Amino acid sequence: MIKDKFTKAGFILAAAGSAVGLGNVWKFPYITGDNGGGVFVLVYLLTIVLVGISVFITESYMGYKTGQNSVSAFETLAVNNKKGWKIAGFTFVTALAILSFYVIVIGWILQYIVISLTSLPSSVAEAEQVFMTLLTKDLSSQVFYFLVSFAIIAYTVSRGVKEGIEKMNKVLMPTLILILLGMLFYSMSFDSFSKAFSFLFYPNFEKFHAESILVAVGHAFFTLSIGMAVILTYSSSMDSDTNIVKSSVIVAVLDTVIALMAGLVIFTILFNAGFESSQGAGLVFITLPALFYEFGAVGNILAVSFFIALAFAGITSAISILEPGVRYVEETTTISRVKATYIITAILIVAGLISLLSNIEGYSEALKFGSKSLFDWFDYISSAILLPVGGIITAIFVGFFADQNILKQTMCKFISEKVYGVWLFSIRFIVPFGVGLVMIEKLGLIKF
Ligand code: PHE
Repeated sequence: MIKDKFTKAGFILAAAGSAVGLGNVWKFPYITGDNGGGVFVLVYLLTIVLVGISVFITESYMGYKTGQNSVSAFETLAVNNKKGWKIAGFTFVTALAILSFYVIVIGWILQYIVISLTSLPSSVAEAEQVFMTLLTKDLSSQVFYFLVSFAIIAYTVSRGVKEGIEKMNKVLMPTLILILLGMLFYSMSFDSFSKAFSFLFYPNFEKFHAESILVAVGHAFFTLSIGMAVILTYSSSMDSDTNIVKSSVIVAVLDTVIALMAGLVIFTILFNAGFESSQGAGLVFITLPALFYEFGAVGNILAVSFFIALAFAGITSAISILEPGVRYVEETTTISRVKATYIITAILIVAGLISLLSNIEGYSEALKFGSKSLFDWFDYISSAILLPVGGIITAIFVGFFADQNILKQTMCKFISEKVYGVWLFSIRFIVPFGVGLVMIEKLGLIKF
C-alpha cells in the first residue's frame, strides 16, 4: 500500500487537472466549430453523462478499491484468470504514446507565450507563416521548448503524489480557472458574445452529420482522460474516505464547464472579427494570434494570458499521463520513483523527437508512412484505437469479471441501488456498444 496520497481536495484538483487539458481549450472549440456548434455540443454533453462519467467512476472504483498501479489493480480485482487480466492494465502504454506528442504541443504553446509577448503576427496570412515555419523548419527551438516542457513534467512526477503532483495542481489549476474567468468576463463586453453563446447552445443541423456523433464520443473519452489507466492510477492515491461518485461528477462538470468557457471566449473573439466558426486545428495557433494583434497592447496581455492558461492546462494533464507508467515501475520493480520517472521520460523524449522530426522539412518524407506523418500516426493510433479499446475493456472488466458482490456493496455506499443499476447497465452495455461504434467508424470499416 502506498502512503503517498492526495488530500481530498487535492485529488479533485489533480483529477480535474488531468481532465482539463489541450482537449478543452484547443481541441473542443475547433471540433465544435467544424461540426456546426449547438447539436454537436448537445451530443457531447449527453455522451459525457451517459458514457463518460460511467467509465470515469469505473476507473475510480478500481483505483480506490486496490490502491495499486493499473496492472496490479486488474490482477487483484479479477475473479478468474488473473494473469490474463493483468495485460489489460498495460493501457498506460497508450498514455505514454500520447504523451510523446502531447508534450510537443505544450512546447509550441510555451513558444507562443514568448511570441505573444514580443511579436504577434499582424494578419492571418502572417500567422500561418509563423506557425508553419515553426512546425516545418525551426527544429532547434521546437526541441528546446519540448525539452523544457518535459523537464517540468518529469520533475513534478519525480517529487511524488503529494509533494509534486498535488502541489503543482494547486498552483496551476486555480490560476488557469482565474485566467479563463477573466477572459470570459472580458468577452461578455462584446456584441459577438451573444452570437458565440447561441452558436454553442442553439442547435444548427446544417453542418452536423452522423460522424459528428462519433467525434463527440471520442472526444468525451479524451477530455475526461479515461481509457488509459490515468484516472485509475490517480484514484489509487486518493484519501480512503473520498466519495468516488461525487468526485467523478465534480471533475466531469468542471471539465465540461471549462471547455464551454474556452469555447465562449474563443468564438466571441472569432465572431467579433467576422470570422467563420470552422477554422480547423489551426484555430488556436494561427487565427487567434492574428486576432489578438488587432487589440493592440490589450491583445498582448490577452494572448499571453491565453497561452499561459493553455500551457497550464497541458502541463497538469501531461503529468497525469506520465504517472501510471512511473507507478507501475515503482511498484513492481526495485527501481525508485525518481529513477523510474527519468528512465521513462528519456524513452519518451526519443519517441517525441522522432515524431517532431517527422514534421520538419527534409525529414518528413523519410518519416512518412502511407498518408500520415509519424506525428499524425501517434495521434491517430492512440486516440482512435487504443484509447477506446482501453475504455471498453475497463468497463467490461468491472461490469462482468470483477466480484459483483463486492462491487455492489462498495458502490452502494455512494449511490442508491437504482442509480447503481443504471451505472451497471451503462458499463455493461452502453459503453461497449457506443464506444465500439466510434472505433469501427474511425477505422474506416463503416462509412456514413
Ligand atoms: N484530458 C486531457 C485533455 O483534455 C488529455 C488526456 C488524455 C489526459 C488522456 C490524460 C489522459 O487534454
